[in-house]
Amino acid sequence: MSPNPEMWDELSGRVAAVQNPWIRQLLESVLQRHGERLKVWPAAMMVHHAYAGGLLEHILKLAEVGGGLAASYGVDPDLVLAGAILHDLGKLEELGHDGATTYSRSGNLLGHITLGVKMVGEMAAEIAGFPDDLRERLEHMVVSHHGARALGSPVEPMTEEALILSAIDDLDATLHQFKRHVREDSGEGEFTAYHTRLRRVLLKPSGR
Ligand SMILES: [Fe+2]
Ligand SMILES: [Fe+2]
Repeated sequence: MSPNPEMWDELSGRVAAVQNPWIRQLLESVLQRHGERLKVWPAAMMVHHAYAGGLLEHILKLAEVGGGLAASYGVDPDLVLAGAILHDLGKLEELGHDGATTYSRSGNLLGHITLGVKMVGEMAAEIAGFPDDLRERLEHMVVSHHGARALGSPVEPMTEEALILSAIDDLDATLHQFKRHVREDSGEGEFTAYHTRLRRVLLKPSGR
């Protein structure tokens, strides 16, 4: 799957529509500064969206689904969008992508959550007057997005927006693995082969 200019336009449009001026400014600087890599980066080395443009596809899905949930539950849509865009930003440093995807030195040593929270803190610090409370809410979304300590987050989600982000992040990654596993299963049976990471077989959709 190759990077798609329509996906970039959609992301830029969502950022331009952000109401909170601080969040909009921060996200605009993310797009400006990291745009070239964001357009082509994979979201992972193997687990999900592990191809060029995979990270952008993942971000856009979270932006779309997160926007719907923010409206349904009456939470701050700007924070949810910011979480969608910022939560895996550390993957730009964690992964090297030059044809093949590899872990960088800092990726191995620090991981994308630590790298990402540093990037968000640094970018907020460059915007004069950026509110500390808002910066911490955004940093919290980055560090809690794996949802549990056992899954690599040092703290669990403590805001509604962070909880929504961690839930849809897991949902999107897992659904992506479902779809791929079904698509790549070459067996004849009704069920797929065992998926070692998901620890289950899957029932193939009818009619496919
Ligand atoms: Fe992550
Ligand atoms: Fe993610």
